[in-house]
Amino acid sequence: MVGIFDIYLWEGFWYIDAHLEGVMAVRSSFTALNNDIIVAASPKTGSTWVKALVASVMLRHDNDGGGGGGGGGDGEDEDADDPLRYNHPNDLVPSLELQVCNKKNANSDMPNTASNTTTRLFRTNIAYSQLPESIKSSGCKIVYVTRDPKDVFVSMWHFINTKRSSEKAPFPFDEAFESFCNGVSAFGPFHEHVLDYWNESLKSPQKVLFLKYEDLKRNPRGEVKKLASFLGRPLADDGEAKKIVRRCSIERLKNLEVNRDGVDPWSDFPKSSYFRLGIVGDWKNELSTEMKDKLDEITRVKLEGFGLSI
Ligand code: A3P
Repeated sequence: MVGIFDIYLWEGFWYIDAHLEGVMAVRSSFTALNNDIIVAASPKTGSTWVKALVASVMLRHDNDGGGGGGGGGDGEDEDADDPLRYNHPNDLVPSLELQVCNKKNANSDMPNTASNTTTRLFRTNIAYSQLPESIKSSGCKIVYVTRDPKDVFVSMWHFINTKRSSEKAPFPFDEAFESFCNGVSAFGPFHEHVLDYWNESLKSPQKVLFLKYEDLKRNPRGEVKKLASFLGRPLADDGEAKKIVRRCSIERLKNLEVNRDGVDPWSDFPKSSYFRLGIVGDWKNELSTEMKDKLDEITRVKLEGFGLSI
């Protein structure tokens, strides 16, 4: 969204000044390993949820039985081994551009990503075409998530405004909408970002798993089973899927102390701002009919012919 941040075009994608240096550093200096797992997404597509799910799948103990999730309670013992209890999802899945390759954070400790395995978990918002060669050519896996662009835009607008001090009026909605429609948004253009990963997931389904937020909402257990199998850590049974879905629910995560207070040091946004409504179709409360039609038409034109609907 122009107007709040300076935004720069680099090889076809837009980056705000706070991100650009890190993005370039990822490409020039990050070396992926075969076991790495990378959660990739455009901002506000539900990637915090996917980070929580990936961490829950990968950091669970091998001897976790499947039966523990049946009750739906949030008992002390049942979640004693839950890494999300004391870690924001962003901390469990460090950002390549904001943390790992960001010079400003060079002296920070790398979060302990997956101490019980050789797997490292990372996240990125970088477009597929701009990822370093080692991510593309190594055996590492990418989990990509996307979402209805109308909900992405609305979510983004609310998120950006959490940084506006209370005395300031919110960033003008219409201006932000036009900017998003023109492809000018952080890590955008949104549709091109989605298409790059979509095409790659078709070419290499064993390397790129393409998820949709709406599918996760509709069938969370089924999607989590798919995710776990893709990551090579299939779930033992439905109970295990149920436990992970419950642990990662927005209702639970937004109420955990670790996610309620404080600021995410890597993005400088409040930790709580990553958990808002978590529903499908909030755009109906914010977009006019004309706006809805305009963005739907852009989506149709851009994605038509690629076998993708979002
Ligand atoms: P809303 O603003 O529409 O509520 P990202 O994580 O990529 O920044 O995306 C943020 C969006 O995902 C926000 O959407 C947020 O509420 C939603 N979200 C975060 N955690 C979630 C969860 N566990 N389940 C469902 N949605 C979640």
